[in-house]
Amino acid sequence: MNTNPRFPGDFLWGAATSAYQIEGAVSEDGRGPSVWDVFSHTPGKVRGGDTGDVATDHYHRLEDDLDLMASLGLRGYRFSVSWSRVMPEGTGPVNQRGLDFYRRLVDGLHARGIRPTATLFHWDLPQALQDKGGWENRDCASWFADYARVVFDALDVADWCTINEPKTVVEAGYQLGIHAPGVTDPARSYVVLHHLNLAHGLAVRALRAGHPGRRIGPALNLAPVYPADDSERAAEQARLHDGLENRLYLDPIFKGRYPSDVLERVAATHRLTEHVLDGDLETVSEPIDFLGVQYYHSKFVDGDGNRVFKYPVAQAEWLEIYPDGLYDLLVRLSRELPDTPLVITENGMASPDAPAADGRIHDTDRIDYLRGHIAAMGRAMAEGAKVTGYHAWSLLDNFEWAEGYEQRFGLVYVDFATLERVPKDSALWYRDLIAGGRLP
Ligand code: NOJ
Repeated sequence: MNTNPRFPGDFLWGAATSAYQIEGAVSEDGRGPSVWDVFSHTPGKVRGGDTGDVATDHYHRLEDDLDLMASLGLRGYRFSVSWSRVMPEGTGPVNQRGLDFYRRLVDGLHARGIRPTATLFHWDLPQALQDKGGWENRDCASWFADYARVVFDALDVADWCTINEPKTVVEAGYQLGIHAPGVTDPARSYVVLHHLNLAHGLAVRALRAGHPGRRIGPALNLAPVYPADDSERAAEQARLHDGLENRLYLDPIFKGRYPSDVLERVAATHRLTEHVLDGDLETVSEPIDFLGVQYYHSKFVDGDGNRVFKYPVAQAEWLEIYPDGLYDLLVRLSRELPDTPLVITENGMASPDAPAADGRIHDTDRIDYLRGHIAAMGRAMAEGAKVTGYHAWSLLDNFEWAEGYEQRFGLVYVDFATLERVPKDSALWYRDLIAGGRLP
């Protein structure tokens, strides 16, 4: 058996980023404030008081960053559009200068033969909409669809992701309060989930109505859950946590219903069903073209439902490194959703990288992580999983939300004092993988 098979010639090897994490230039060319500007400027919310004001300064270094992508041989680039650049108030007037930035980005990608995937929402909701209730307001779903139509019309992009990681918005934004808008109320979090799903469905319909031939899908962070021991209680907890981690996000989109065991479990705190109106679930489950899969880690739970760590963790303490989880996840998804192509829209790890004496960044732990996960993906594909692309998170070290700039997820090192970029060893390894079509 060939243990290092060649990936298909047309496989989409890419890297991913998001607007607030890399762009900076938060007050330029008419951009309005987003919830992350407000949150990061609130004392105590982000480690070290870091903000995205400058980030990697990608907004001003667009051409250089495009050349950097080309030098790595990337075939794909997944970025997100900042709603507040395009519509500073969230609704109403369109800011052409904001759109022009993304037009230049997309043109620059096409000129270099790099296929763009654009994400419509990667957490940076315009603050003006938050002031009207944000995602708790049902109208937010139609505001999102209006914004999506503007962006669909403006950008020559074939592949679109709707909402990035609804689970993170629900959990980090509305339960734990560690992300914008910093709410700690489970009841409100499930309302938000439903409105995010509705927004997703309306955007799918908007694309279908105006742009035949383009493709659209969600970008869900999924984590296989395993019992930490052989007990029946652990097995039961693993089933429930699979609901909370995965089915709560997959089922509404693919089955047109929220999973009943999860609803029962959170019944004491949620008012989800009250917010689901007639016809909503048809909108939410509008057929999509691919599922964007974001995989970082798996979860092992004991009989009390507590997470147990069995494998080494990366610099981010939640990121338990378990490549077999990706294999299991892809095999499961391709069995449950046989007609849906899968695209890995994010996978990666953080490490405390720094230049060595030779000026290079020897991030062998990241190379190991990538090799393990890409091999796991290859095994799943060999067993029939329809995976058409892989995007490493992330192209650049960037603003890691509540962790500020300390956790480095990039293939490319960014010196945040000088903003100089240096491809890490992992970037060069990835370049060789793309060029050769198999693991180096
Ligand atoms: C997923 C998110 O989409 C991205 O914004 C974040 O930086 C990575 N996970 C790493 O935590």
